[in-house]
Amino acid sequence: MQLIASFRCHHTHNLLLPNSFFSLPTAPTTTVTPNRKSPKCIPVSSSTIRLEVRAHSVSPKMVKAIRVHELGGPQVLKWEDVELGDPKDGEIRVKNKAIGLNFIDIYFRKGVYKAAAFPFTPGMEAVGIVTAVGSGLTGRKVGDIVAYAGNPMGSYAEEQILPADKVVPVPPSIDPIVAASILLKGMTAQFLLRRCFKVERGHTVLVHAAAGGVGSLLCQWANTLGATVIGTVSTKEKAIQAKDDGCHHVIIYKEEDFVTRVNEITSGQGVEVVYDSVGKDTFQGSLDCLKTCGFMVSFGQSSGSPDPVPLSALAVKSLFLTRPTMMHYTITRDELLETAGEVFANVASGVLRVRVNHTYPLSQAAQAHADLESRKTSGSVVLIPDGAQ
Ligand SMILES: NC(=O)c1ccc[n+]([C@@H]2O[C@H](COP(=O)([O-])OP(=O)(O)OC[C@H]3O[C@@H](n4cnc5c(N)ncnc54)[C@H](OP(=O)(O)O)[C@@H]3O)[C@@H](O)[C@H]2O)c1
Repeated sequence: MQLIASFRCHHTHNLLLPNSFFSLPTAPTTTVTPNRKSPKCIPVSSSTIRLEVRAHSVSPKMVKAIRVHELGGPQVLKWEDVELGDPKDGEIRVKNKAIGLNFIDIYFRKGVYKAAAFPFTPGMEAVGIVTAVGSGLTGRKVGDIVAYAGNPMGSYAEEQILPADKVVPVPPSIDPIVAASILLKGMTAQFLLRRCFKVERGHTVLVHAAAGGVGSLLCQWANTLGATVIGTVSTKEKAIQAKDDGCHHVIIYKEEDFVTRVNEITSGQGVEVVYDSVGKDTFQGSLDCLKTCGFMVSFGQSSGSPDPVPLSALAVKSLFLTRPTMMHYTITRDELLETAGEVFANVASGVLRVRVNHTYPLSQAAQAHADLESRKTSGSVVLIPDGAQ
């Protein structure tokens, strides 16, 4: 560790001084009366010099990362050099091999969800190799392949620091790119189908954006659970994929009225549950598709936030409404391990076929955002750190 002292003088200079010069190794700011003269500058006042002391690595590790300095379109994603510290107590440093792109990254870039500070590095999912381990209990060692999904934000980076209790081990049978394409989306499918509303044989479910990252997994998994699956998509190409993923009925909602079609398919009965991630454009129609005591799961807003819902809209059919978030279903370490474990097990057994339909170099994250946002993608999108290709 090295300390930087800055003496206030006519022209501000930063002087690099050895540790031995200081008795206060990490105090952020202190004022002292000098007992020796600075070799490079003359103090303004001869009696007092303000001395700033900051902790720095001997040679700070620089990595490439995407950073956002202001909210906006894909162009605000900047490819920059950032300084990476050492892992602290309970933390690990991870060199990313693959980074999952998720629609939530777009919400943060646009300000639909608020980042805690600027500039920030987006991204909530990655798989990589542990390169350093902090002190304290981490349960990890250098060389482990680990994955994380959720907080903390900041995975659009070649290397990042993570709390050790937020990562899960990746089974050796699963390729890092596959793992990065499925952890967040697969854990989302897990809690939606198995805990939020428990899908069972004989249920009929409606999945919007059925060819998307989460949608593709929801359809495959719901089919395996024995449900009749109805999926909506925007194009014929996406319809083919949704059918292949286990949709018994596919509705092209840009061409057909999905409420009318669901009524026809269910002979006017409606569906037990709607998994709606599209939001504004589909919300009211989704309520109309539910049977009495049906379950409305509104888990995203790709088309915009739905309008406020009066309770009377639910009273019509005694409906249930929830707006769940994966983070709340994976809060404890046990929940995280169990949910991730079930996803990886389903990949290994073939229940979930992963569609990594698009990969981009990390430096091209802006293009990936533009494509996801304009509905050009299907399945999962993965960013690969430029040096890792
Ligand atoms: N609550 C949670 O914990 C949680 C966790 C993960 C994801 N999510 C949500 O799940 C949704 C899917 O996420 P994902 O990452 O897998 O993305 P995705 O489904 O691959 O992409 C979004 C899809 O939404 C459809 N869409 C409909 N209207 C759209 C519009 N106006 N603009 C853009 N897309 C539109 C498009 O499919 P078509 O072209 O077929 O219409 C598009 O491909 C997102 O809303 C996300 O926020 C929620």
